[in-house]
Amino acid sequence: ASAPLWVGRFEQPMDAAAWALNASLDVDRRLALEDVRVNQAWAEALHEAGVLSAAERDAIVAGLGTIAHEFQTGTFVFRASDEDIHTAVERRLRELVGPLGGKIATGRSRNDLVATDFRLWLLGQLPHLEENLIQVQMALLTQAEASGDIYLPGYTHLQRAQPVLLAHWWLSFFWMLERDRQRLGDLYPRVAVMPMGAGALAGAGFPIDREKLAQRLGFLAVSQNSLDAVADRDFAAEFLFVAAMLGVHLSQLAEMVVLFSSQEFAFLELPDRFATGSSLMPQKKNPDLFELTRAKAGILLGHLTALMTVLKGLPLAYNKDLQEDKGQVFAAMDTLLAVLPVLAAALRAINVNAEHMQAAVTDELMATDLADYLVKQGLPFREAHAVVGRVVREALALGRPITDLSEQALQAIHPLLTRSALAILDPVQSLARRNLSGGSGPQAVEAQLQAARVVLNQR
Ligand code: ARG
Repeated sequence: ASAPLWVGRFEQPMDAAAWALNASLDVDRRLALEDVRVNQAWAEALHEAGVLSAAERDAIVAGLGTIAHEFQTGTFVFRASDEDIHTAVERRLRELVGPLGGKIATGRSRNDLVATDFRLWLLGQLPHLEENLIQVQMALLTQAEASGDIYLPGYTHLQRAQPVLLAHWWLSFFWMLERDRQRLGDLYPRVAVMPMGAGALAGAGFPIDREKLAQRLGFLAVSQNSLDAVADRDFAAEFLFVAAMLGVHLSQLAEMVVLFSSQEFAFLELPDRFATGSSLMPQKKNPDLFELTRAKAGILLGHLTALMTVLKGLPLAYNKDLQEDKGQVFAAMDTLLAVLPVLAAALRAINVNAEHMQAAVTDELMATDLADYLVKQGLPFREAHAVVGRVVREALALGRPITDLSEQALQAIHPLLTRSALAILDPVQSLARRNLSGGSGPQAVEAQLQAARVVLNQR
């Protein structure tokens, strides 16, 4: 029981280094329990197809049960000859139940088996990942709820643009993550398609009831084409895209925290428990965890790129190239499951410096509101824009805030401009004018908060 599954045809054992390159046990041992489960269901299907007697099925299912127990208790002993997890399980089954164990291989190949195990594994992880993602969304929602009427500059091109409510700012990330969460849900039915029964490539040579088998394993459907079933990994690539997209969103959020916690901004303060120090500079408090979150987007994109590149141009059907799929998906899942809980806790603990945020909302951030005011007096917006542009230029030239400009100076720019019109340059009023749906006004944001709560409760 210590030779490869395919030893029959060969005269010489495999070169040791070549064996090491070929083997995938180190990676695919994570599919151990899925492999046992699929084998048990397969034994049932073989019995129903008249291949195994009831007694044979029972012995095989029991043997597999023992193997599952060994995996769960960490007592399963791998052998150097275990090329991959499928080989290990089958080898152990033959040890436990004798040559009868070899009947489990009837009509199936590692090609349909690995694709089935891998999909099952991902299906099992997706809810767990979603739960972790929701925790980050909850942290954002909690921050938004605690933001009250605090406002800060909104930026475009990283230049101060217009005031926005801090709650609106936090929630912007909530919605990005909500779409990633939806994407995770969307890919589920495409992952939940069972390849088992595809055999090596042409379909099993026995009348397996695949629908029944799929149901037993918790799949939603069976694959329609045996070649496609063993050859494609688009379900894995799709997952890696969602992981990368989520990574990009998290990196943007992380970058904002890095930037806003710098002394130049000092809008946010990192909690000690989620900050690091410098080995040399005693005063430093560094946002390492947010920087790592920012970096992980690149790593996640790497996994997507790696798999897509492996898949590109492969001939039908199974090719060993496909063995490289699992490492990418496992790594992406591990990365997200490491980052998300830390981020959820760190975001909750971040302190907000409302004073600094609001002080950064200077007069000129309401320049658009002044232009809008002139529009209400009948000026075409393009003209109003030019007029206010001149107001801004004048204030800049004097080195004074716009609100310091004299009546004379204002009148010289445009007769509609008066000192009392400058009362428009108020952030609270500016926000109050933005209560259209999706806007950053207080009522609109209140509605948005409610929508966010509903989204999380309805999941
Ligand atoms: N370890 C292989 C993989 O991960 C299992 C399938 C091997 N099939 C084969 N014909 N060599 O893809």
